[in-house]
Amino acid sequence: MQEDNVMPRKIIVLTGATSGFGRHTLALLVQEQGTTVFVGARGTDRDVPPGVEVLPLDLASLDSVRTFAALLEERLEGAGIDVLILNAGVHGATADQLSAEGFGLTFAVNHLAHYLLSRLLLPKLSKGGRLVITSSNMHEPPLKRLAPKGLEIEAWAHPFPGGSGTGTRSYCASKLCNLMTAQSLARTELVRERGIEVIAFNPGLTGGASGGDASALQKAVVSVLIRTVFPLIALINPTFKMNAPEHSGRMLADVATGTIPMPEGRVYVSLVGGKPTFPAPSALAQDVEAQDRLWRESARMTSLDR
Ligand SMILES: NC(=O)c1ccc[n+]([C@@H]2O[C@H](COP(=O)([O-])OP(=O)(O)OC[C@H]3O[C@@H](n4cnc5c(N)ncnc54)[C@H](OP(=O)(O)O)[C@@H]3O)[C@@H](O)[C@H]2O)c1
Repeated sequence: MQEDNVMPRKIIVLTGATSGFGRHTLALLVQEQGTTVFVGARGTDRDVPPGVEVLPLDLASLDSVRTFAALLEERLEGAGIDVLILNAGVHGATADQLSAEGFGLTFAVNHLAHYLLSRLLLPKLSKGGRLVITSSNMHEPPLKRLAPKGLEIEAWAHPFPGGSGTGTRSYCASKLCNLMTAQSLARTELVRERGIEVIAFNPGLTGGASGGDASALQKAVVSVLIRTVFPLIALINPTFKMNAPEHSGRMLADVATGTIPMPEGRVYVSLVGGKPTFPAPSALAQDVEAQDRLWRESARMTSLDR
């Protein structure tokens, strides 16, 4: 609760702000007067702008997510979070890369940890606050072979070699989960009562990604595609236009601060050719029954009530 004689602070919390385009989002947000910024990251020795407090968070561990949320609550001293940006992500792990609790790494980091974090922090969000989850247009990839055929939650959570819980297919699935979770959150009573805006953000193809836990081979293949094939396809399909990390970082900051307003009733903003567009998510992503099932299963896996 803010006291009358205290300058109101704007509180922003981010994951995925230590590298890639999230680093640029952070640099912009921290410049705003009266802003207090917390970043969840692996280790506290990260290179962040002055004034940013880094709290330890390893999204590959649900225990770490809970510890982070508890520590953040202490730091907030009763104040609300105005902007929560859940941007961290890994790309397509193998079947033997597992989280601390034994879930497939991509599903665990990209979806499950952020699902838990959003549910733990939702009650701390201020009236009129914003919650942004970074998804991707890869929730519905142009290569249908990679697209999730339906909710295969068990296969994503407990991957086996060659299954949909590994490689790029698991990445697409996790980004679908992000988009579905955003829509489920937007339907919650708390979000509607407090006028919180929930947004799923697709940065489009963006350079400068660290590649995270991807293998050297995966990184090399992506780097060749980015330099050769994508620029050619982009001539006819702007979805393949490569954005500079500075640009996607600015767009994410603008979405999170409301500088890019969302049209009424829309949850998904997608950069196409570098510009914000507001397309309907895929049919599967919009399926409310499927959203509810993902919500329930994720609650079970993170030991939350429904
Ligand atoms: N780049 C693209 O073309 C593209 C397109 C669509 C969507 N996206 C999405 O955009 C987001 C950012 O992507 P990017 O390209 O900027 O990726 P990136 O350069 O690989 O950055 C990923 C961020 O996630 C953090 N992270 C990864 N694993 C973590 C863990 N276990 N615990 C805590 N933090 C963790 C990284 O922290 P460290 O610094 O510790 O590694 C880093 O800050 C991701 O959600 C990605 O799926 C990217």
